Amino acid sequence: MSTDTAGGGSPRRRKTVTVRDFLRMKREGERIAVLTCYDYLFARMLSDSAVDAVLVGDSVGQVLLGYGSTLPVTLEQMIHHTAAVRRGLQGPMLILDMPFMSYQVTDEGALANAGRVMKETGCEAVKIEGGEGPALSRIRRLVDAGIPVMGHIGLTPQAMHKLGGYRVVGREEEEAESLFAQAEALEGAGCFAIVLELVPSGLAERISQAVSIPTIGIGAGPRCDGQVLVLHDMLGLNPDFEPRFMRRFGELGAAARGAIADYVGAVKDGGYPSESESYGA
Ligand code: KIV
Repeated sequence: MSTDTAGGGSPRRRKTVTVRDFLRMKREGERIAVLTCYDYLFARMLSDSAVDAVLVGDSVGQVLLGYGSTLPVTLEQMIHHTAAVRRGLQGPMLILDMPFMSYQVTDEGALANAGRVMKETGCEAVKIEGGEGPALSRIRRLVDAGIPVMGHIGLTPQAMHKLGGYRVVGREEEEAESLFAQAEALEGAGCFAIVLELVPSGLAERISQAVSIPTIGIGAGPRCDGQVLVLHDMLGLNPDFEPRFMRRFGELGAAARGAIADYVGAVKDGGYPSESESYGA
């Protein structure tokens, strides 16, 4: 167990989840739960949960910053958000998503940027998209330097223009075989886990059985070794985002709208603040 509680309750005390824990969980068939996080407040809540790892995803660009894609997200923005999460997080492994163009150019550039984020944020691992060509040599370079790397294949949003938009990847035979080979190559390059995004569930199962590192699915069906969701989406804070794989585990968006309306109403009709919410002399 990565925590001293069983069954997903609040842990009394948490030791930091490591890459070795990830591999052990895969071996022992314990499913791995991962969520995204971008700030201190939610990081504190996640520390009180039994979640195994927290990813500061470049999805922060769309979810919190209002960009149309993840492409504009900068290394500085990732450092800013990951450092905030670090201040609130204790227990789950903290993974920083390397943003577009922070690792694509050269191995040395990737190493310099990954080294910088490790030093400046206190994250324990980084995530890199792609499973062939230069991505593999980047990953080897980082792993050689002692930086744990999570791979990411299938729908890789930083390559959305090359892929032709956001879509399920691996439905056609050729693409499926390529993804299978990429997963094996990522394991060979030294990744400690692989995100499979928007991959048909049969293919995700095949990949999960073939590699000895955990697969973490998002829109990749139930037979991955773990799952990751964007926290704000699963809490119902992003009502316009409704892909098939998204289950809302809460309706915080509706609750927030209701509370905001109640506040405005109470200010307008003089119901807030009351005398008991005010200070005497
Ligand atoms: O940026 C992100 O949040 C991600 C996850 C969805 C895997 O890459």
